[in-house]
Amino acid sequence: MAAKPLHPATLAAQALGWIDEQTGAVVLPVHTATTFLRDPDNQYRRGRNYGRADNASYDQPEALITALEGGAASLLFASGMAAAAAVFHSLPARSHVVAPQVMYHSLRRWIAARSADGHLAADFVDMTSRDLLRATVVPGRTRLVWIETPSNPLWSITDIAGAAEIAHAAGALLAVDSTAASPVLTRPLALGADIVMHSATKYLNGHSDVIAGSLTTARKDEFWQRVVAARSGHGAILGSFEAYLLLRGMRTLYPRVERACHSAMQIAERLTRHPKVLAVLYPGLESDAGHAVAARQMTGGFGGMLSIRVRGGEAAAIATAARVELWKRATSLGGVESLLEHRASIEGAGSPVPPDLLRLSVGIEDPDDLIADLEIALG
Ligand SMILES: Cc1ncc(COP(=O)(O)O)c(C=O)c1O
Repeated sequence: MAAKPLHPATLAAQALGWIDEQTGAVVLPVHTATTFLRDPDNQYRRGRNYGRADNASYDQPEALITALEGGAASLLFASGMAAAAAVFHSLPARSHVVAPQVMYHSLRRWIAARSADGHLAADFVDMTSRDLLRATVVPGRTRLVWIETPSNPLWSITDIAGAAEIAHAAGALLAVDSTAASPVLTRPLALGADIVMHSATKYLNGHSDVIAGSLTTARKDEFWQRVVAARSGHGAILGSFEAYLLLRGMRTLYPRVERACHSAMQIAERLTRHPKVLAVLYPGLESDAGHAVAARQMTGGFGGMLSIRVRGGEAAAIATAARVELWKRATSLGGVESLLEHRASIEGAGSPVPPDLLRLSVGIEDPDDLIADLEIALG
């Protein structure tokens, strides 16, 4: 009888159970070589020749991400932005792409700039509406639909299966920025997506000490070969030591994300009753517009990210941020320490983010301490 497949949490904790053949060590060495020996007959039978394309320190973390996402292959990149850019760079010139109005702001700006200078033709749409997405894709012309769910920093939810159906009917690929969900909570490939992207800087690494990105593909097809070539060609590669740290972080991915989800739910519920809070944006709340879809496509929780709108506008939000002590006033997300940020201040002009919004990245501290600090800061 075939053994029962192992749970993803087990695969992550043991980093697929790989051991070093030579020493039996349960942690693999960090490979730092930038070049590899050619065989005497002029071949490269061991499969690697130069460190920009081939890095043995990537094998295990890439294999683990592939396993957790249920994909065919993964690639590590120097950052989440580099991973996303590799997808767009792999499209034919002047491709039509559709992206969300609310998404990670630096990527939105980058896509808009590529569109303005003629490399792409981008349309930005409210991805919570399947009808709007359907009306925006152009069959035969749209090459890529890019979605982010839950989307930063309003945590709105996009129906991945619905978006996949619309993208594929138009002849386009569907790529999902799944950074906020992590593979613990959502497996976009199983819902029909073609590519999953992570800012591995966030939950995958989880300790605010590595900038990294990843892509996972459903199929090793011709488009994926272009992405592989884009990483090597643009040279946006991760350092070997960072790949090691990322793998170490991923070993605790499941308990970190599970705890963050649990605490985020408690914080969201508590803050909905706070008189100084105008709104709590969190897909775990039944009252949230995205809750029904999130409950269908997310498993085990609704994420460690939420936002609040503070009564009294921008000044009140910034003053609240100034009063937190335990929460760290900082950008980024997905680390073990809780972070709080006045989001409009970092997104700048043209941002769709309300000025009274504070973004909260819930870490793994005791939730009672986090709530107490927020309640004092809100006054
Ligand atoms: C949702 C999301 N996608 C992509 C990125 C970009 O990732 P990186 O900072 O690793 O380049 C970020 C960074 O904050 C993000 O939050």
